Amino acid sequence: MTDAHPASRLSAEGATALDLRGVTKRFGALQALVGVDMRVRVGERRAVLGSNGAGKTTLFNAITGDFPCTSGRIRFFGDDITLLPAEERIRRGLRRTYQISQLFDGLSVRDSVFLACRGVSRRRLSLLRPRTDDSGMEQALRILQVVGLDDLRDQLVSVLSHGQKRQLEIALALAGAPRFILFDEPAAGLSPTERRDLVAILNALPAHVGYIIIEHDLDVALRVSEYVTMMHNGKIFKEGTPAEIEDDAEVQAIYLGHGHG
Ligand SMILES: Nc1ncnc2c1ncn2[C@@H]1O[C@H](COP(=O)(O)OP(=O)(O)OP(=O)(O)O)[C@@H](O)[C@H]1O
Ligand SMILES: [Mg+2]
Repeated sequence: MTDAHPASRLSAEGATALDLRGVTKRFGALQALVGVDMRVRVGERRAVLGSNGAGKTTLFNAITGDFPCTSGRIRFFGDDITLLPAEERIRRGLRRTYQISQLFDGLSVRDSVFLACRGVSRRRLSLLRPRTDDSGMEQALRILQVVGLDDLRDQLVSVLSHGQKRQLEIALALAGAPRFILFDEPAAGLSPTERRDLVAILNALPAHVGYIIIEHDLDVALRVSEYVTMMHNGKIFKEGTPAEIEDDAEVQAIYLGHGHG
């Protein structure tokens, strides 16, 4: 199993997928992000850890443009995207999942993924009804296999378990041609078995698709990432390989349940 760990793919050099310089986000008097510098290589898998309110989701919102940063610069595959609208960042291959589910209960599993595929393709304004011979539908069915939901494709979203809904959220992020995905706590509320499935799904994603995963479960985070960034009070306070983070005395103190700061 050690060969399957993403750290085995780690290379020192490589093109940059995401480059953040001095990224700051203020909500009134609150500094949610304070001069964040971060570089993630193409295809890299990065975990972001940190206590509640550390600024992890705010970091994602700045990257996606859902809540643009107050100052600083964000580059995506070399291009400055700091001021681009969120839809344009999606068009360039940036995807995210949300901490709180954004699924539509009334849709089937298959149509949810189909509409996501259609939404990021050039035919998104088409009013054509979904057909199984459509290339978007073929892609949707392939994605459902990747996340292990193909048996449930005809079910309504409303009947899925919590864990299955989280898998479907990953499926939606895979629609189109993602180059980089931001996963916001995909393991939250999952059972141990579902966590193992999630680790397998993430480790089986195509090698060129990089991601950042926000994760409170240290065990999951260390098994799906090749580099770890730790945040506290809107700042990065520690970075390292999974092995370095696991051996770190301060990290051990936090994850033995004392909390940080
Ligand atoms: N839209 C907003 N308006 C005002 N304050 C916000 C907003 N979004 C986040 N904040 C504040 O910014 C800080 C960082 O929040 P954020 O959601 O990024 O934390 P987090 O690290 O994702 O925490 P959690 O682990 O609980 O999800 C918090 O103090 C939060 O209350
Ligand atoms: Mg959050």
